Amino acid sequence: MKIEEFFDEVLTVRMTPERDALDIIDQTLLPGTIKRINLKTKEEIWEAIKKLRVRGAPAIGVSAAFGIALLASKIEASDFEVFYKEFKENKDYLASSRPTAVNLFWALNRMEKVCQASKDKSIEEIKNILFEEAYKIQAEDVQISRNIGEIGFKILEELKEDGEPIGIETHCNAGTLATAKYGTATAPMYIALEHGWKGSDMHVYCDETRPLLQGARLTAFELKQAGITTTVQCDNMASALQKLGKVKVIFVGCDRVARNGDAANKIGTSLLAICAKHYGIPFYVCAPSSTIDMETPTGKEIPIEMRDSEEITSMWYKERMAPEGIEVFNPAFDVTDHDLITGIITEKGLCTAPYDKAFEKLGIC
Ligand code: MRU
Repeated sequence: MKIEEFFDEVLTVRMTPERDALDIIDQTLLPGTIKRINLKTKEEIWEAIKKLRVRGAPAIGVSAAFGIALLASKIEASDFEVFYKEFKENKDYLASSRPTAVNLFWALNRMEKVCQASKDKSIEEIKNILFEEAYKIQAEDVQISRNIGEIGFKILEELKEDGEPIGIETHCNAGTLATAKYGTATAPMYIALEHGWKGSDMHVYCDETRPLLQGARLTAFELKQAGITTTVQCDNMASALQKLGKVKVIFVGCDRVARNGDAANKIGTSLLAICAKHYGIPFYVCAPSSTIDMETPTGKEIPIEMRDSEEITSMWYKERMAPEGIEVFNPAFDVTDHDLITGIITEKGLCTAPYDKAFEKLGIC
């Protein structure tokens, strides 16, 4: 299958042509089953985000934008006040699905601003404007990934040694399945292919990413499909891999970056960064500017989602793998301290420490 066809087949979210449902690929079934499902109610959209049927910070943002537009299209109201009250209730409900990825709140706030700015228009016009804004957010996400990819590709070009595939490590899935097309951490790889690199010019090591296996199930699936040499290893094998000198650079995504550059991403990312510092491997966080939260001063203030114990004890096994009633620690994300990060790649440019100044310079506010 050609890469563009694959992107289309696994497109994280789109509206049905009738604009009566969100059409998403159910990521909980991948890689074994490629199945698209329709979400029509606010409960279905909320559940899909909560259960990670659609996941990854930018894809959650795009889904929330389409979701709030869809729900708004069903509001029966003749005046703005009544319409806005229900819009706001829907917005607050969707915002309660997951706490860490700031793109969820960013997208919903952007939709609300557009709604308020249109208050003098007819309700039918407002409904259309909301759909158009959601399409805009989706299209922007494609361009944002491309820009991140171009910057990341330059880094790859600088690090690549003649005749050797370049070893790249990544964690979780910050790929096409987490965005509207190219991913963030995977964008440099897709852009490298566009610049004429062969899949065998790169060797991507995907951390399996316990407990929900986004690396093994999703990133490895995507990259293999793209013809890129790909290896999966368990998360606790990362230091062995790095010690062997297999990894020349690390690209990861993020769910929220604080003003000082501390970056929340999938649990296990900070371990990878600590290890990378020890072995002198450059560690880059790929972040659309919508993921940078200038209102959160440091990583300490980033809310970290805690998830069900079954994800660790029983979900993937034929039999339960921990004693009944055992206490489980299952944070979905951790925070990588800014001093472990070589650079944060945004669509506006590469940022290095001090990050608050770098973000301001690029007009991220
Ligand atoms: O819990 P998930 O699967 O939504 O976590 C996803 C990640 O941690 C990604 O790395 C992050 O959202 C960036 S996606 C471009």
